[in-house]
Amino acid sequence: MSGITVIGGKSSDILAKKLAKKLNASFVSSEVKIFPDGESKITISAKPKGKVIVVNSTYPPVDSNLIQTLSLISKARQSARDVICVIPYMGYARQDREFLPGEIVTLSVIAKLLSSAGASKIIVVDMHSMLGAELFKIPIKNVSAVPELANYLKKLKLKNPIVISPDLGGKERAAEFAKFYGTDYIALKKQRDRKTGKVRIMTNNLDDVKGRDLVIVDDMISTGGSIVKATQFLKKQKCGKIVVACTHALLINNAEKKIKNAGVSAIFSANTIPGSTSLVDVSGIIAKAI
Ligand code: R5P
Repeated sequence: MSGITVIGGKSSDILAKKLAKKLNASFVSSEVKIFPDGESKITISAKPKGKVIVVNSTYPPVDSNLIQTLSLISKARQSARDVICVIPYMGYARQDREFLPGEIVTLSVIAKLLSSAGASKIIVVDMHSMLGAELFKIPIKNVSAVPELANYLKKLKLKNPIVISPDLGGKERAAEFAKFYGTDYIALKKQRDRKTGKVRIMTNNLDDVKGRDLVIVDDMISTGGSIVKATQFLKKQKCGKIVVACTHALLINNAEKKIKNAGVSAIFSANTIPGSTSLVDVSGIIAKAI
């Protein structure tokens, strides 16, 4: 053993086990009991030894998973001087600035909580924006799942696909994906109503996608609204097959069905959030980052 213990939080236990194997580290599991009032009672299976890495994503229920992550860090800190906290999917990452007056930048509150619980370093996968990383006072490393996602796309054998970002904010991600795959890319213009959350695609006609297979690439799918709107627009441009690649597939409220009904033939995502589409393993890239 390498003198490293990986503690797997309940929301990332399978990914944490894979990571422990890659690092040749001991694995400590955790059990969670949710009391009728919603509080979490967390128990770990053994005392961690050596350097400790806590792994836990904060997907829904976001606040419970956050409390569990903080509790695991605090427990780990009792026996280790340095605690690396891997949060494969960082909830609240979209609340990284004050969009409307009076809004609280909750990601900055979380940054403070993670360091005061005892984390000495944070590792995240495809954080929503790097503006969020600046809110952390401890080192934070963002790992890109894009090369792994682009590799997975090769298995689908699409015909000369073009990469599409559903919004301008995702332009660099689409460019990175296109570079790894070896093709070109386009970023659509999307507008989101900050009050209702509704999205509209503002791009006009696009000749470049006519007859071509497409891969829409995004950092995350929550309600699926952005992907559905992009798909409806792209279908009107007479494109070929559409597949969707994203890092974090939350797929809230039947999003997967809505996306498929809009005309997407396949969705694949990373195992930062386990689920029906999480076909791409990121334990290898996290291990390299550690
Ligand atoms: C937005 O900037 C993000 O990159 C995603 O496009 C967005 O958060 C997805 O949310 P939804 O699936 O609810 O449209």
